[in-house]
Amino acid sequence: MKVAIGSDHAGVNLKEEIKSLMEETGVEYEDLGCNCDTSVDYSDYAIPVAEKVANGEADRGIVICGTGIGVSISANKVKGIRCALVHDLFTAKVTRLHNDSNVLAMGERVIGPGLAREIAKVWLETSFEGGRHQRRVSKISEYEDQQA
Ligand code: RB5
Repeated sequence: MKVAIGSDHAGVNLKEEIKSLMEETGVEYEDLGCNCDTSVDYSDYAIPVAEKVANGEADRGIVICGTGIGVSISANKVKGIRCALVHDLFTAKVTRLHNDSNVLAMGERVIGPGLAREIAKVWLETSFEGGRHQRRVSKISEYEDQQA
C-alpha cells in the first residue's frame, strides 16, 4: 500500500509521527509537505494529497492540520475522495468498514501523538466491509458523476 501524506504548519509534528509509524510498519509513503514552521494554507497540501489518491498514484491519503477540519473539507472537494476526520479509535475502524474512506484527516491540536498513531494504524489496517455499505458509497459516486 502506498500512502500520500501532507499537512500545513500546524500539523507538521504529527505528520512526522505518522511517517515514523509507517516506517516502522513498512508502509510506503510520499510526503507532499509542508516542511516548514511558517504559516501556510492547508488547502495547498490537502488537495494534492487527495488528487494523488483520486488519480491512483496513491492507495490512501493522510492529511493533518491544527483541527483536521480545513484539510478534510479541502480533500473532500476532490472527486472520488471520501475523507474522514477521525479523533477516536471507534470511528477510525468504522469509517474503513462502512465508508471505505480513502483519506484520513486528523488535527494535531486536538489529539496527542500516541492516540494519533493508534488511529492511523487501525485505519490503515482495516478493510472495507462492502455489502450494503457498497450500495451507500456507490450512491455518493453516482452523485459526483452527475455533477458537471
Ligand atoms: C492554522 O492556524 C489552522 O487554522 C489550520 O491548521 C486548521 O486548523 C484549519 O482548519
